[in-house]
Amino acid sequence: MNLLHISDLHFGPYHWAANDNIVLERLNGFAADIVLNTGDMTSDSLQVEFQEAQAFLEKLTCKNVVSIMGNHDKYSKRSHEMFREYIFDGNFIEPKDASIVKKRKIFISPNTARLNDYFTDVNYLRLFEISGEKILIVCVDTNLFQSDSGYVDWQILATLADEMTNVTYDRALLLAHHSVLSTDEDPLINSKRLTDFILEQKIQATFCGHTHELDILQVSDVINGGKFRQFMCGSLSSVNIPRDKNMFCTYENFGTPDEVITVTRMIPTSDGIEFSETVLGG
Ligand SMILES: [Fe+2]
Repeated sequence: MNLLHISDLHFGPYHWAANDNIVLERLNGFAADIVLNTGDMTSDSLQVEFQEAQAFLEKLTCKNVVSIMGNHDKYSKRSHEMFREYIFDGNFIEPKDASIVKKRKIFISPNTARLNDYFTDVNYLRLFEISGEKILIVCVDTNLFQSDSGYVDWQILATLADEMTNVTYDRALLLAHHSVLSTDEDPLINSKRLTDFILEQKIQATFCGHTHELDILQVSDVINGGKFRQFMCGSLSSVNIPRDKNMFCTYENFGTPDEVITVTRMIPTSDGIEFSETVLGG
């Protein structure tokens, strides 16, 4: 199974000035089975930014594209609706018991807004069959509505765990915009809830973005056993943080002894983009 990981596309004012068609040509040169897009497609959750993200993602030749929300995608009261309209309209999971939800503003008050959907979170499952193997992608919304830090609600995680028992799969991977292992100034505040979930559900790996840095970690539970790896991919196409080195990651034969991880960094030049590949493992 070959995975292509992109993150933090940041259409809108944070988006770089380079030619995205050159990026798409390079992305499409990799024979991905699944594309993992770990959030922050927009800068300010504007409709035009969601539309630009949609246009970009539709040009990927791999049609198994899984996208999640980032904090920048949840600045608008219409974010949930726009995600459904432009990115993916799925069977999003709601908490089992909404009355004991701890995540704030998970529902927008109908008294203060006129919307089609008052629920702000986007959590869902996608199942793919790749070379006879059933791969479950667990999409967890770590973003707080109109905030840059993250929080996960255990009611949502419990509902996701229930839904997972109804699915037959060989391997599970998890997408979350915020890191669960290494934090920054806008962290996933209660990351332990999510690391516990990942270990309990025997999820093989997590994929995230958010910090615009490249970071690959492995954690093991010394008491109960179990381990997982976290892959944090830098930003594909933003210019909002000076340390940005735009990049994407590919994972060939993911999770097998023949695995090869390649980081492709992209440097805009006067007449295009210079690509520089680093192979991390193999
Ligand atoms: Fe982010």
